[in-house]
Amino acid sequence: MAKTAGFCFGVDRAVGKVYELAESGVKVCTLGPIIHNANVVADLEKKGVFICCSPDQAPTDGVLIIRSHGVPQSVYDEIERLGLRCEDCTCPFVAKIHQIAAERSRRGDVLLIAGDPEHPEVVGITGFCTGEHYVFSTPAQLEALITAHQLEQRPVSMCSQTTYHVGNWQQAKEIAARRCQKLEIFDTVCGATASRQQEAEELSRHCDLMVVVGDRHSSNTAKLREVCEKNCRTILLETAQEMLQQDILCAKIIGVTAGASTPARIIKEVLHTMSELLNDVQGEEFSFEKALE
Ligand code: F3S
Repeated sequence: MAKTAGFCFGVDRAVGKVYELAESGVKVCTLGPIIHNANVVADLEKKGVFICCSPDQAPTDGVLIIRSHGVPQSVYDEIERLGLRCEDCTCPFVAKIHQIAAERSRRGDVLLIAGDPEHPEVVGITGFCTGEHYVFSTPAQLEALITAHQLEQRPVSMCSQTTYHVGNWQQAKEIAARRCQKLEIFDTVCGATASRQQEAEELSRHCDLMVVVGDRHSSNTAKLREVCEKNCRTILLETAQEMLQQDILCAKIIGVTAGASTPARIIKEVLHTMSELLNDVQGEEFSFEKALE
């Protein structure tokens, strides 16, 4: 069991705030699902929390929540224009990247951002860039960008999405350092992401099956799966109900990890189901949860 499995600091903070407000009777609306986890979102819905796609859909008598991924500057402007009450749960590590993007753009640097251009966090970051900026997903794309925009002699600042693949980030830094003369690199892969991926990498080397628990829309869960798949058979589960007996029966050593947006409750359920499925066959009373306590 990975020690780093489950909620990270930023997600815990944002989800905790939504529960706190909802349970105090305030009308709560989140700008997009609070986290990439359908289970948590459904539970919040039962408490009356609803989701809107843009500030103009938010109620004027409630609180609008900005999730940990952050939003572009234009959304803050819109919230202010509408006079909405807002609780900003942008993770401080993401807010730091916003600051870098804004300051470096103002200085005239070209911004290079490693990440998925469609991911809300990257959309938020690019929304703070006021000058030339490019997003790349792979080291090969970075090579092509440097050539296409002749970035060798131009002032360049480079950062990444907080959940970017640690190995790809290392390669990107090497490429940029070799090719760009006026470069400044900001190491913005989140420590929580880096340690999760590193632990998953180490764990999966000693296992013959890795179970990654998390939502299929979660970027950091997908990265964990990618890291583990290189070393052993890997399955991704959103809930314990998705676990199949044949998945685990032929494995001798099973490793478990979970994305930063996976609640502890779901991880526990997976361990419980895993024990039940094995006990079913072996006629034992073994409990993974107890063994890991
Ligand atoms: Fe923040 Fe890192 Fe989590 S950036 S939201 S603590 S993965």
